[in-house]
Amino acid sequence: MYRIAVLASGRGSNLQALIDAIATGALDASIVGVFSDQPTARALQRARAAGIPAHALEPGAFASRAAFDEALFARIEREQPALIVCAGYLRLIDAGIVESRRGRIINIHPSLLPAFPGLRTHRRALAAGVGEHGASVHFVTADLDGGPVIAQTVVPVRAQDTAPALARRVLRREHPLLVETVRLLAVGRIRLIDDAVQLDGRPLVAPLQLRATNRFA
Ligand code: GRF
Repeated sequence: MYRIAVLASGRGSNLQALIDAIATGALDASIVGVFSDQPTARALQRARAAGIPAHALEPGAFASRAAFDEALFARIEREQPALIVCAGYLRLIDAGIVESRRGRIINIHPSLLPAFPGLRTHRRALAAGVGEHGASVHFVTADLDGGPVIAQTVVPVRAQDTAPALARRVLRREHPLLVETVRLLAVGRIRLIDDAVQLDGRPLVAPLQLRATNRFA
């Protein structure tokens, strides 16, 4: 069974999408633990409700960022996950810890990377006047939101859009994007080789694009 650990700081709707896909048989995998830096995160409640071990570690209890991350990842590795999914995890992860796990950690980010790394992506997309926005799943490297992009979903920006309306439109597409990307990783079709994403042993020339049918082009 393909073992997944999930890191989440908040609401956990992307976690829920993975839980639901596993429950329906759409994704052949097992979530072996959900880990959070926020003890009250709704993501932890969702994990418990699904019978998944939920773990909270409080950064304030550790002397440094590195000490926190060492403890967190030591706990994660006890579950022997093949893949670590950052799904709304709002803390920077120590560069050394990330680099030693290259190709094993992915993140979902609400923009069409490399556009709009960082926070408040929807507001910034509207301010920039772009016609299309969306979300990306990428391998995590020490470069914040800068690792190789695996797959994206594009949504239109509408006249009169507000940041919350645009965020809702993007989030609805994030869920199938994450599930379908994890599915390709689980069956070994996607790999990070050196700095390039490979699909079926060949470098991807551009990120995979999720179609309305929830399949990749
Ligand atoms: C999502 O928009 C995700 O792309 C970003 O944080 C948000 C998390 O939402 N990284 P949720 O906690 O999965 O509902």
